[in-house]
Amino acid sequence: MGEAHADIAVIGLAVMGQNLILNMNDHGYEVVAFNRTLERIDDFHAGAASGRDTIVGARSLEELVGLLRRPRKVMLMVRAGQPTDDFIEQLAALLEPGDVIIDGGNANFYDTIRRAKYVEERGLLFVGTGVSGGEEGARHGPSIMPGGSPEAWPLVQEIFQAIAAKTQDGTPCCEWVGDDGAGHYVKMTHNGIEYGDMQVICEAYHLMRDGLGLDAEEMAAVFDGWNEGELNSYLIEITRDILAYRDASGELVLDQILDTAGQKGTGKWTSVSSLDLGVPVTLIGEAVYARCLSALKDERVAASRVLTGPAEKEVDADPGVVEAIGQALLASKIVSYAQGFMLMRAAAASFGWQLDYGAIALMWREGCIIRSQFLDRIQEAFERDPDLPSLLLDDYFSEVLARCQAGWRGTVQLAIERGIPVPAISSALAFYDAYRTERLPANLLQAQRDYFGAHTYERLDQPRGEYFHTDWTGKGGAIASSSYSV
Ligand code: 6PG
Repeated sequence: MGEAHADIAVIGLAVMGQNLILNMNDHGYEVVAFNRTLERIDDFHAGAASGRDTIVGARSLEELVGLLRRPRKVMLMVRAGQPTDDFIEQLAALLEPGDVIIDGGNANFYDTIRRAKYVEERGLLFVGTGVSGGEEGARHGPSIMPGGSPEAWPLVQEIFQAIAAKTQDGTPCCEWVGDDGAGHYVKMTHNGIEYGDMQVICEAYHLMRDGLGLDAEEMAAVFDGWNEGELNSYLIEITRDILAYRDASGELVLDQILDTAGQKGTGKWTSVSSLDLGVPVTLIGEAVYARCLSALKDERVAASRVLTGPAEKEVDADPGVVEAIGQALLASKIVSYAQGFMLMRAAAASFGWQLDYGAIALMWREGCIIRSQFLDRIQEAFERDPDLPSLLLDDYFSEVLARCQAGWRGTVQLAIERGIPVPAISSALAFYDAYRTERLPANLLQAQRDYFGAHTYERLDQPRGEYFHTDWTGKGGAIASSSYSV
């Protein structure tokens, strides 16, 4: 067994694991590398880690534990689900009180809550952390969102903040998020927002391609222009590059890709959680459904031959229309982030977390997939009012929405006229209109519920919490159904 002087161990040598190890090593940390299939350790040593004698391969978990300085820190970068549980169980038997197990995968936050409890009951500490930024981020500076056992934070803070992305003024995009599953919840919400951002970008592309008839170069130029302004972001930037990318034979690669989207589940979890908590996170929901609908390729092909759309109509691709699409993108993005932060607020209340929303915006400012200038505005909004109930109510964002409104509505109109689906952009507008409506038609809904099921209703002229029932048909009984909300 070797000497115990390594700073941290990373288990799982897929691309994220390898790149995190190299990143840690670049920052002066001695790292133990382990993988279930041992050949991968040899490949790593012969390849990306060659010549680095402070990256040490372990041939077993026992050896890994023996190489680590105490309190030991072991980071799992393995597939979410059973593999994570298997490693936790094996490690829990080998580690000693005060040692830390870190799960850096895209775990479901309920699993993280369960694992934190399991690990803590064994005298160990647990960190469930979001790591965003893909391969590049892991290698040169990801956004890191750790939560779990609070006592673990001082033990991992230095390494995490050293390897994390930094904002322009040098602040690391990594802060302690909160207890048990808080870090993975925030990462899940990040991914949900990522789904939403990607979907609204796809809708803008669809409108420009099929509604305005723009070619790839023209669209790339539009995205380039957007990237210079308020929409500046990593996803807009890569979309610009993707649009113009040609293969060796000069063909546009984008035009050769099958239009069926995949998904690994984090967007779905965000939507499920929003339903569980009763928060209308409509845009992310639409983004998930849009992926599901895209996957029905054969059905869509068959339907395209049967179902008719509106009559073809020429639309001038004048700069005003393109600008309106940009405004629709920005306005929808504001709604999406407002919904995402509403969700985190509800989750914090439900799971007992103290979330710092400004700090979350800062963590997402660099390194992660949704990094953008826009997050500076969100951080400023929460600096002005840490208890802001909705970003839509912040002066800056409400002013941007007012400015973008005409273009946003015009874009939805154009989409409807041309029969081009824009579920995220249009549902964002519907949310905006519902959120700013003092009197929604839910009075009728309550009346219907009371009519057919005696579900009762509250009255405008009576205090909240008092419930009334009307015998609408004259044939009902005097007993009303009990009143509860899920
Ligand atoms: C990140 C990403 C990453 C995620 C991919 C794929 O923050 O680096 O969110 O964690 O796995 O984006 O997600 P889907 O396969 O669900 O699109």
